[in-house]
Amino acid sequence: MAENKSTISRRQFLGIAWTGSLALFFAQMMVALLKFIKPVTSGGFGGLVYAGKIEEFAIGSINRILKGRFYISRTEDGIIALWQKCTHLGCAVPWVEEEGQFHCPCHGSLFNKVGEVLGGPAPRPLDYFPSEIRSGEVWVDTSQPIQRKKFDPSQITGA
Ligand code: FES
Repeated sequence: MAENKSTISRRQFLGIAWTGSLALFFAQMMVALLKFIKPVTSGGFGGLVYAGKIEEFAIGSINRILKGRFYISRTEDGIIALWQKCTHLGCAVPWVEEEGQFHCPCHGSLFNKVGEVLGGPAPRPLDYFPSEIRSGEVWVDTSQPIQRKKFDPSQITGA
């Protein structure tokens, strides 16, 4: 009766196991690296954010979209998505309904409904994000805030 003998040597087995372990290690490293460098493409701040249906934003209203860290300011002509970050030193700027303006709690900068500076140390208007209205849905791209020296009607996305 023939003896059932292994077809690979111990040295070959260790070589295969070592190579397999290395390949697995590098695959895991690549997955971790890709997760780290891949930009967020949807859902929250840093990607494309769904803000709501256009009819949910009454003309003249300011609505905070928490997950995107911006406000939708609805004008008669459309909307502008204003980043909540103060252009002075970066504090989150709340909309103060009683005052009818954005009022930074840190050093008192004031901004109007389209982000223009009304007072305080802020050097420029609030930054805004590109927005789009698709089939009545408002989408905001929070990957690239836009700086500006002043408000211009071309910054409004028509509704
Ligand atoms: S951070 Fe807003 S006024 Fe200074």
